[in-house]
Amino acid sequence: MRVCIVYFSQTGNTHKIAEAIQAQTAEAAGHCAMLRLEEADPAIFSGYDVVGFGLPAFYFREPINVYHFFKDMPDQSKAGRSKPFFFFVTHGGTPGDVYSRIDRLANSRGMQTIDYFQCLGIDTYPPFADRKPLTAYGHPDQNDLLQAKTFAKDIIHKAGAYLGRGEFNKPKIPGNWITRTVAGFFSEQKIRLMMRRHLLPSKNIRPGRCTKCGLCVENCPQGIISLNPYPMIDESNCIACYHCQRICPTNALDCDWRVFKFISGEYFRSQKPIPPGD
Ligand SMILES: Cc1cc2nc3c(=O)[nH]c(=O)nc-3n(C[C@H](O)[C@H](O)[C@H](O)COP(=O)(O)O)c2cc1C
Ligand code: SF4
Ligand code: SF4
Repeated sequence: MRVCIVYFSQTGNTHKIAEAIQAQTAEAAGHCAMLRLEEADPAIFSGYDVVGFGLPAFYFREPINVYHFFKDMPDQSKAGRSKPFFFFVTHGGTPGDVYSRIDRLANSRGMQTIDYFQCLGIDTYPPFADRKPLTAYGHPDQNDLLQAKTFAKDIIHKAGAYLGRGEFNKPKIPGNWITRTVAGFFSEQKIRLMMRRHLLPSKNIRPGRCTKCGLCVENCPQGIISLNPYPMIDESNCIACYHCQRICPTNALDCDWRVFKFISGEYFRSQKPIPPGD
C-alpha cells in the first residue's frame, strides 16, 4: 500500500504530529512518503493509494495556501471510486469549521475521508504570543503524539478494508451551521479584505533594525518576500500568518496589534505571561 502525507506547518506543531503519523504508517504499511506543502505539487497524490493531509487551523478554517493546494489538485478517483483520505489538524482551541471544510475539499477532488485526527497546538498567533494560553500551552505533548500513533495504526487497517473489500464507516466530522457560518464569514473575500485593511496590522519594515539576514524571506510559506535591499512583500499573495514578524530576530518587521487586541478582547483578558525559561 503506497501512502503519501502532505502537511503544512508553520511553527512545528503539525510537523510533530506528521512525523509521529508517518513513522507509524510506514511501519504498518511498509511505505509512507511525506512532503511539506511548500515542496509538494498538487498532483502528487495521484501516484498513491492512500493519502493524508496535515494542517493548522487559521482564522477558523484551513490556511489559504492549503485551500489552493486542494483547488489545484486533479481528481483522485479511480474507476468511479474515491481514494481513501485522512487528515490531521492542530489548533489553539477554536478550530471553527476546519474539519468539515477539509472533508468537503477532499470530496470535491475524488477522495473519501476515512478518519481524521486533531489535537491542541500552542497558539502561535503573534498577538497571543505574550500570554500563556489556558488550553493549548505545551501541546502537542507526549500524549498527543501517542494518540497520533494509535490513529496512524488504525488508519492503515481502515484504508486496507476500504481498498480491499469496500468496507467503510464514515467518520462523524465535527461542524454545524454555527461553525460553517463563522468560517464562511471570515472566508468571504470582502471580509478578508476589510480585516486586512482595518483589523490586521500592516507589516512595516524598520530599515534601522533590519540586518538583511533573509530569515523572513526563507521562512515565508508563500515565498513572497524579497530582499531589495530590505524585505519587500507581495501583499496580494499574503496569507496573513505573520510568521515573518514572529521569526525576525531584531523586530524589524513592526506590526501594531493594538486594534486587533482591542476588538478581539485580548486586552481585557487576564494576562498570564509565560515565565522566562518555561
Ligand atoms: C495566523 C494564525 C491564525 C490562527 N487561527 C486560529 C484559529 O482560528 N483557531 C485556532 O484554534 N487556532 C488558531 N491558530 C493557532 C494554530 O492553529 C496553532 O498554533 C497550530 O498548532 C499551529 O500549527 P503549526 O505549528 O503546525 O503551524 C492560528 C495561528 C496563526 C499563526
Ligand atoms: S528577518 Fe528581520 S532582520 Fe532578517 S531580513 Fe527579515 S526583516 Fe530583516
Ligand atoms: S509575508 Fe509574512 S504574513 Fe504574509 S505569508 Fe509571508 S510570512 Fe505570512
